[in-house]
Amino acid sequence: MSRVYNFSAGPAAVPLEVLQKAQSEMLDWHGSGMSVMEMSHRGKDYISIAEKAEADVRELMNIPSNYKVLFLQGGATLQFSMVPMNLLGSKSKACYVNTGAWSKKAIKEAKLHCDVQLSASSEDTDFTSIPAVDSWDIDPDAAYLHYTSNETIGGVEFQQIPDVGGIDLVADMSSNILSREIDVSRFGIIYAGGQKNMGPSGIALTIVRDDLIGQARTGTPSMLDYKNHADADSMFNTPPTYSWYFMGLVFEWLKAQGGIAAIEARNRRKSEKLYAAIDQSDFYSNPVEVSSRSRMNIPFVLANNALDESFLAEAKRAGLVTLKGHRSVGGMRASIYNAMPEDGVDALISMMAEFERTKA
Ligand SMILES: Cc1ncc(COP(=O)(O)O)c(C=O)c1O
Repeated sequence: MSRVYNFSAGPAAVPLEVLQKAQSEMLDWHGSGMSVMEMSHRGKDYISIAEKAEADVRELMNIPSNYKVLFLQGGATLQFSMVPMNLLGSKSKACYVNTGAWSKKAIKEAKLHCDVQLSASSEDTDFTSIPAVDSWDIDPDAAYLHYTSNETIGGVEFQQIPDVGGIDLVADMSSNILSREIDVSRFGIIYAGGQKNMGPSGIALTIVRDDLIGQARTGTPSMLDYKNHADADSMFNTPPTYSWYFMGLVFEWLKAQGGIAAIEARNRRKSEKLYAAIDQSDFYSNPVEVSSRSRMNIPFVLANNALDESFLAEAKRAGLVTLKGHRSVGGMRASIYNAMPEDGVDALISMMAEFERTKA
């Protein structure tokens, strides 16, 4: 077996220990004689798996008891629709902050349901920074304010939770959930797709404050109403059982690493050393304003883009894969989520230095 360092933005690298645990339990889960994939979601074995995953993520994120934790289908993208469908109530406006490609997708979807007030946008600076919060244009009567805590493509990340007064805050945390400590009580809703820091794709974790549940608009399909999922403990229909189980394994792994504080310290170290390597060279550059740089997704370009293909080939030879930047921005992107070991970042830095030495 030969495993690579996978810098994919998502689906992304999973901790090796998690894959090994899933492998060891694949054919016979804890003496049940069957795989988790084969279990009834109503049986006591599966219920214990589901409950443990929820308890572990509650512990990791210190989720207050007045929040529901939902395991939903449709990835983060379906949350772009479920949020307005469930939160608007009798209101007709929501505020959105546009910091890049993922904010734009959320805004486009919200516009199908309500008036969107664009509270702030960094489009004029090509999404290389977060607009200062004191400049945001917030309507306190809007149903909620939505922002994207980490822009996976642009590599822009909020370093603090924005202070938006009394309006309910909704965050798409798909690409930085569980990577740093946050105060969940500051939010109305947090949602994230699984495939970056939690394992499998197709499943979304949605953390929603109790009082926001139960006001879906008339006509909302049952499957898109948070209340139905909350009342049924995320088993309104057959849930994605294996993905839920697998997320649980990732949560167990995170606890064994020392929890979020420990993983945050490692994420800070990993990202700081990669940015330092980029910044001290004239050969590589990252366009994002220093105070808005992501610890999870680090885009960089080569001064001479004619060398892009040869960089990628050299990286692949060194066992470093999926470094090609998103098709909309080009260049390179290193996604270094929780599961990327520090050794993987060190190997990338060495390869970059060696490539520069031979090609500059
Ligand atoms: C910030 C962000 N939001 C939303 C999504 C969409 O997630 P999904 O593909 O699970 O619907 C992604 C996917 O990469 C993302 O990075």
